[in-house]
Amino acid sequence: MLQLAVILPTYNERGNIALMVERLDKALTGLNWEAIFVDDNSPDGTADEARRIGRDDPRVRVIERIGRRGLASAAIEGMCATAAPVVSVMDADHQHDPVLLPKMYEAVVGGEYDVAYASRFAEGASTEAWGRPDRVKASGLANRIARRVTGVELSDPMSGFFMLRADILRADAHRLSGVGFKILLDILATVDAPLRVKEFPMNFAARATGESKLDRTVVFEFLVGLYDKWLGRIIPTRFALFGTVGAMGVAVQFGVLWLVRSGLLGAPFVYGQWSSNTAFNIANTIAAVVAMSFNFVLNNELTYQDKRLRGVLPLLRGWAKFAATCSLGLLTNVGAAAVLRTMGFHDAISVIIGIVLGSVWNFALSSKFVWGKY
Ligand code: GDD
Ligand code: MN
Repeated sequence: MLQLAVILPTYNERGNIALMVERLDKALTGLNWEAIFVDDNSPDGTADEARRIGRDDPRVRVIERIGRRGLASAAIEGMCATAAPVVSVMDADHQHDPVLLPKMYEAVVGGEYDVAYASRFAEGASTEAWGRPDRVKASGLANRIARRVTGVELSDPMSGFFMLRADILRADAHRLSGVGFKILLDILATVDAPLRVKEFPMNFAARATGESKLDRTVVFEFLVGLYDKWLGRIIPTRFALFGTVGAMGVAVQFGVLWLVRSGLLGAPFVYGQWSSNTAFNIANTIAAVVAMSFNFVLNNELTYQDKRLRGVLPLLRGWAKFAATCSLGLLTNVGAAAVLRTMGFHDAISVIIGIVLGSVWNFALSSKFVWGKY
């Protein structure tokens, strides 16, 4: 009977697959196991390599996902794709030692613990061999923030090496975020029942071959995910991002206006031939257009990174639509403030409500017409 499934998310890990299967085979003698490589259509042919091994060894299976990316979502799909009652997730690049698997299995199979995981920061663990003091520091920081926001009290909630009973995972799989790298943290913060967790100290090794896929996008997604858990129900994450970008745009507008007025940018052109009022208006218009374009670019990169517009033409079209949206938003903004003021509201209150209404308008319209799908 199948006892254990080891899920190995892969992206460009071709050179690591064969040895990984060998090491699993050695570590798991006596257990009935399968390994599922969940590959996101890696350009280096990782999936082909795994299939090649799987033809001789039916314990090796492959899920190939097309047009998708992400460690966490790959782990979830792998864990949902096995009949094994116990599932484990580990990296395929040899940073995680499969020798720990049988001990983790012992801890969860009888129900003594719900989750077993390997920690890089537990008593007796080591990150020496990793050779990345910068990443050790960053992981320590990420772990501290994660503990604070989610209340998960582990030494390494960011670990990517863990095991649990499949029914626990499947009961809540639909509620997991599946974004980025933080799959264990996601499970612990999502499953309502208090989970009994057994910690195993590990020696986190250096990657065998290939490169890490943890990049800026993953870090950004991590921060966004924490915000989502923290305040997301009160102020939706995307609107919060949109608003933050908008606030930065205000700073940019002031900055550009100051540059023009102080003579550092285009002053002869602006101030040479016009009265001071007209000059101010021209300068401020330039500043507003720069700020709006800045907002467009940042929203495209961050707020709507999952729907990012690419290529010259789509970008130009998006910019024009964003400009149209913003001009209507500006009318809403100024109009609402004017109405509120005649109703007797304090000036500042009127302006602030105007800004909020204008932003909501901009957000609603641009998410539909600039970054939306029809
Ligand atoms: N399918 C799929 N899709 N797999 C991916 C993706 C992806 O988009 N990105 C990464 N992987 C796979 C890698 O191929 C590797 O097998 C495993 O996930 C870990 O990715 P690495 O790129 O090696 O991550 P790392 O070593 O920098 O990060 C380590 O530390 C993180 C916390 O600091 C890992 O242990 C992570 O699991 C851990 O969360
Ligand atoms: Mn790695």
